[in-house]
Formats: sequence, structure tokens, C-alpha cells
Amino acid sequence: MRNIMENKKLYNTMGSEVAEGFTCKPKKFDANKPIMHFKTQLFICDDERCGKAHKDENIAATLREVIKQLNLAKGEDRIKIVRTGCFGACRFRSVANIYENTRINGNSKNNGIWLKNIHRYDIEKWKRLFKALKENISLDEIEEFEQVPMSDPSFYK
Ligand code: FES
Repeated sequence: MRNIMENKKLYNTMGSEVAEGFTCKPKKFDANKPIMHFKTQLFICDDERCGKAHKDENIAATLREVIKQLNLAKGEDRIKIVRTGCFGACRFRSVANIYENTRINGNSKNNGIWLKNIHRYDIEKWKRLFKALKENISLDEIEEFEQVPMSDPSFYK
């Protein structure tokens, strides 16, 4: 059993062999792999309430595959999916937060947007979202992507 575990190689989501004792650190550094690069990062709540709302138990993995199909998994327009714990916005579940890399090439209009009811998205809707993000179309102008009124003054004043 011990030998089997010792011989088992792990690979991270970028396809690099993982260093022993780590879960995603590459064994060999390859500067050509866009490990740290992204244009848009989508934080998907994977905590108890939001996680249960999704029919797909591994929504993050599914979305990473969709992003690969759209050729947005690497390069200048890379969209990165990150699972998170509870945002404290459970009543809008499931929720996701869009973080644009505005220092380099992100679209500031979509930065900081909170999407609600993402558990109701089908694959085609996810594709429309990813294409809109890639093309830097402001989500404020697309009705189908409902937003959480995060920090809307009418909610806290
Ligand atoms: S469980 Fe997702 S915001 Fe609370």
C-alpha cells in the first residue's frame, strides 16, 4: 500500500506534476504556464447552503471544462474558477463574485459584481456569461445575469 501511494503522481489543474506534500504546487516551475495569470476570476461559493443548491456536486470542475472548451483556460483572456466558503450572502444563493484583473487587463465595469441564483444556470447560460466576460461586455446591460444588490445604498442607509 505504501509503495502505491509513493508512486502515485498528482497533477494540478494546469496539468503540471505536483510536488510531494503539496496539492497544487508544480514539481518543476514552467514560466510558460499561466499559473498566476488571469483576466477574470470567478469566486463560486461552495459552502453548505450554496453548495447544496447546485444539482452538480462538482460545479467548479464542470465550469473549468466549459472554460477549456471555450479556449479561455489560458492566455490573455483566462477565466479562473475558484471555490470559496460562505460569503454571508446565502439568501441570494447560490452566489458568485466576479473579480477582474483591473491592474493588467480586466474590465472594471464587471469587477466586483455579485451574481445570484447561479445554481439555476444551465451550461449554455454559463457559456454566455464566459463569452460576455471575455468580450468585456458590461453585465449591467444583460438582464439574464441577475445581480445581488451588494452595497446598494438603499439597502443600508
Ligand atoms: S453558503 Fe454561499 S453565501 Fe453562504
